[in-house]
Amino acid sequence: MSIQQLKDITKEYISQNFEAIVLISDIKVKASRNGKKYADIIIQDSSKMMEAKYWDYEGNEEFINSINPEDPISIKAVVGEYKDQLQITIRDMKKANSEEVNMSDLIPASTWGVDSMEKGLRYFYEKMKTPHMKELIDKMIFSNDYFKKYSTHPAARQVHHNFYHGLFQHTLEVLKFGYTVATTKKLSDRQIERLIVMTMLHDWAKILEYKSLPSVGFTEEGTMLGHIFLGAHNTLNIINEIENFDEDDKLIILNGILSHHGHLEFGSPVLPKTIEAQILHQSDKMSGDIESIQSFIKDQENEEDVFTTKLWNMGTDYYKKGMK
Ligand SMILES: [Fe+2]
Ligand SMILES: [Fe+2]
Repeated sequence: MSIQQLKDITKEYISQNFEAIVLISDIKVKASRNGKKYADIIIQDSSKMMEAKYWDYEGNEEFINSINPEDPISIKAVVGEYKDQLQITIRDMKKANSEEVNMSDLIPASTWGVDSMEKGLRYFYEKMKTPHMKELIDKMIFSNDYFKKYSTHPAARQVHHNFYHGLFQHTLEVLKFGYTVATTKKLSDRQIERLIVMTMLHDWAKILEYKSLPSVGFTEEGTMLGHIFLGAHNTLNIINEIENFDEDDKLIILNGILSHHGHLEFGSPVLPKTIEAQILHQSDKMSGDIESIQSFIKDQENEEDVFTTKLWNMGTDYYKKGMK
């Protein structure tokens, strides 16, 4: 069977073989009950990420260990089903000639366009007037040290914005949602400025927490410390380099970063203590939730069922006809 993209694989194809060129973004070696080693592999192209089993790990360890996240891999595989989910079993794989492969076919990216996202970010930056807050954003975002990473990094490993420029797109969404609420509720210019700063920086540390695409997963620093602590820690370090940074602005911005998950049980060490911080939290949640629903439905648009499977972070399934 020939497929154009991984998203073309549906339940209709169960027990059929297919060939594809993919990136391998994660490999976990496991042992079955009888002690035989196998690999759980995440394969991806620009359309989808899927889990796959590779039972022939033993004897092919050397090849598996030689795979880099940016190597296009040609696979022969079969489509199966396990616990009501599609499961891919890889029968054979080899490195594809990377000169013949267009990498943009293999890595999902934001469809918003980097240039227009940069314009959007600058639109909000231009609304700022206070020199010490502008300097903080200049140092942490519009500097050679960070801009490339900030504008290309994903915002999540799975669930939402897990694509090239995902952090950029997510930040811009949160800025737009938050700004709308702040102006509707007539917050002061200073409050709006703080909201812009804390929003731009709330997930900044994802550039440290996640590996750069096409690798997926957490860095050691990310696993040990997480983006909430890392964000506040790095922001405070840079604030300390800025002369006469207003003490109240400092506390409010740091509280916004630390509390953006909104609840202690979701990983925030403190609760939102200002209106700006609460707006940030709710805008952040809206951006993540809506993106996760949209991409979940899109992932399953080729399946015949009227409803999707259950989206775990939202606790329900979705009516696909509603997308039309
Ligand atoms: Fe976050
Ligand atoms: Fe976020």
